[in-house]
Amino acid sequence: MKVLITGGAKRIGNYLAKHFAVKGYDVILHVNRSISEGEALLSELKNKYKDQNFKLIQCDLNEWKKVAKVFKETFDNIGLPDVIIHNASYYLNKSLADTQEDDMEQMMGIHLFSPMVINKAFYKRGGKGNIISILDTAIQTNQTSHGMYLLSKKSLADYTQMIAREWAPTIRVNGIAPGPVLPPEEKDAAYFNEVVKNTPLQSQVQLSSISDSVDFILQNKNMTGQVIYCDSGQHLL
Ligand SMILES: NC(=O)c1ccc[n+]([C@@H]2O[C@H](COP(=O)([O-])OP(=O)(O)OC[C@H]3O[C@@H](n4cnc5c(N)ncnc54)[C@H](OP(=O)(O)O)[C@@H]3O)[C@@H](O)[C@H]2O)c1
Repeated sequence: MKVLITGGAKRIGNYLAKHFAVKGYDVILHVNRSISEGEALLSELKNKYKDQNFKLIQCDLNEWKKVAKVFKETFDNIGLPDVIIHNASYYLNKSLADTQEDDMEQMMGIHLFSPMVINKAFYKRGGKGNIISILDTAIQTNQTSHGMYLLSKKSLADYTQMIAREWAPTIRVNGIAPGPVLPPEEKDAAYFNEVVKNTPLQSQVQLSSISDSVDFILQNKNMTGQVIYCDSGQHLL
C-alpha cells in the first residue's frame, strides 16, 4: 500500500507520514520549501522501515498549472498511491477586502486547483482507493479574518463531495475538518490557548485524533462524501 501526502515535511503532514509508515505503507512525501526537513523525515523512515519505499517530490502548488506534469510523472514512474491526503495549506491572514488578485490565485491554487489536477491525474490513470481532503472546521462559518483561505477550503469541501459522487465506486473521497491542532505560525501560544479554551470540549485537538479520523475513513468501506469534524466541537459554536 502506498500513500501520497502533500505538504508532508512538518507538523500534521509529518505526523501522518510517520503514522502511515508504522502501518506498513510506502510514502510519497510532497514538499514545497521544506526540502531538508522532508529529506530528514524520509531518511528517518528509511532507517526504521527498511522494506518500505519512501520518495520525496517537490513542487509549489501555487503554480498549479505546472502541477499536473509533476504528479503524472510521479504516478507513471513509481505507481499510483492507494491513498492521497491533501494536507498542504497556507493560512493567509487577510480579510476579503484586503485580498489581492495574486492572493486569490494562490489560495485557490494550493487548496482547490492543485488537489483537482492531482486527483484527475490519479483518476485518469485508473487510480483506486481513497482521497482525503484536510479541510478546516471553519468551513461551517463565514469568518473572514482569513477570507480567501476559508473560501478556498469551502470550495475544496464541495469539490470533495462532488468527486465522491462522480468517481464512485472505485474511489472513496472524504474530508477531515480539524479544529485547533497546532498554533498557526503567525500566532503566539496565548492566542492558541484561548482558542482551545473556547471550544466546547475545551481541549486541543490531538495529532492522534487526526490519524484516528484518517484510519476511520480508511476502515469504513461504506463511507464516502463525508466530512469528519475533528475539532473539540468547534463547529457547533
Ligand atoms: N494546524 C491546525 O491547528 C489546523 C487547524 C485547522 C485545519 N488545519 C489544516 O490541516 C492541514 C495541516 O495543517 P498544518 O498546520 O500542519 O499546515 P501548515 O503547517 O500550515 O502547512 C503544511 C504544509 O503546506 C505546505 N505548503 C504551503 N504552501 C505551499 C505551496 N505553495 N505549495 C506546496 N506546499 C505548500 C508547506 O510545505 P513546505 O513547508 O514544504 O513549504 C507546509 O509545510 C492544513 O490543510 C490545514 O489547513 C490545521
